[in-house]
Amino acid sequence: MQETTSVKPHSEVGIHLGERSYQIAIGSDLLGSPHCYDGLPSARTAIIVTNETIAPLYLQSLVSALDKHYPVVGHVVLPDGEVYKTWASLNLIFDALLERGCDRRTVLFALGGGVVGDMTGFAAATYMRGVPFVQVPTTLLAQVDSSVGGKTGINHPMGKNMIGAFYQPQRVICDLDTLKTLPERELSAGLAEVIKYGPIADAAFLEWIEANMDLLRSRDPVALAFAVKRSCEIKAQVVGADEREAGLRAVLNFGHTFGHAIEAGMGYGRWLHGEAVGCGMVMAARLSQRLGLIDSAYVDRLTRLIERAGLPIVAPVLDDKDNAGRYLALMRVDKKAEAGEIKFVLIDSSGQAVVRSAPDGLVTEVIQASCRP
Ligand code: NAD
Ligand code: GLY
Repeated sequence: MQETTSVKPHSEVGIHLGERSYQIAIGSDLLGSPHCYDGLPSARTAIIVTNETIAPLYLQSLVSALDKHYPVVGHVVLPDGEVYKTWASLNLIFDALLERGCDRRTVLFALGGGVVGDMTGFAAATYMRGVPFVQVPTTLLAQVDSSVGGKTGINHPMGKNMIGAFYQPQRVICDLDTLKTLPERELSAGLAEVIKYGPIADAAFLEWIEANMDLLRSRDPVALAFAVKRSCEIKAQVVGADEREAGLRAVLNFGHTFGHAIEAGMGYGRWLHGEAVGCGMVMAARLSQRLGLIDSAYVDRLTRLIERAGLPIVAPVLDDKDNAGRYLALMRVDKKAEAGEIKFVLIDSSGQAVVRSAPDGLVTEVIQASCRP
């Protein structure tokens, strides 16, 4: 099993993408330390994008650190929530940039969870056809997944993350101290994305998560530091091999095909993204079993771990009359779908992930079984 003792108080993970390469800094006391921002592109103005929940907690600390590097440090405070991951919120960012006369050198800083990070990244990708940006993730989910790898975007009422761009940040600063203020439910949501890396890429990490779930939920700093570091290493390796999801990167969507249907079908924000992904992994594991890729013991093992993380394992009913039909219709809007054929990320017992289609009848059986308590 992997050892947590090798984790240093401050670690760095590199993501290797040629001229778009960058570092992920992981540790305590980073967000407010001016030296963390040394060497970023120079500019007259830095703009911090955050939301109304995070601003009172961490905005001043980041402003003070950036004051040492930029003559002007401004900010935009967005409404909080997945339901605001929209064009309207994006326009609030553009309004602030234009009102302040921000030019092409302006550096954007995303201070928050995945919602703020994805929207700020998309704003950076498109404002004046591209300005630099830095991710300062403050949720576990954002530190282990969304801040890394350059997927940016917003939701459309018909589908999750349907509008966006691949656009890499200049740096990612994961300050583990911010996880102390994270609500319990959000911590669990982040654990879903941590668990994901086990079945798709690292059987030893899956064992480690099983052995350390209680420590993770009690926010043990050493356990959290290891979980963030190992998750970022795995994600960096996958993204380094397939930045724009020509193939391999799709494995990072384990649980997401079902999960995105749950999020869109319930209405954004009702189920947290991580909750939908957690339940979606149970459904994807069941489908893998029905296709003969894993046995029922593996499904039970994964289900138990997801439940221990504090995540739902019973899927919601999305339509009283034709529940499976509603799931299938929503999943056909998934970005992996090709000509209306749904592609699922499935797992096998050797720790490999495969992306493939499945007969609607089998998927329907899985949906029906998963919606029963
Ligand atoms: P989120 O951004 O909505 O943050 C969760 C909640 O926690 C919010 O209410 C936020 O205000 C609050 N919060 C954030 N940091 C806090 C802190 N330190 N203390 C107290 N409260 C805090 O949700 P999330 O789970 O971080 O991100 C989910 C989003 O990420 C989804 O939109 C999803 O699609 C996206 N995502 C993107 C990628 C990617 O590769 N780009 C990967 C996974 C998920
Ligand atoms: N979270 C999926 C990806 O980054 O590809």
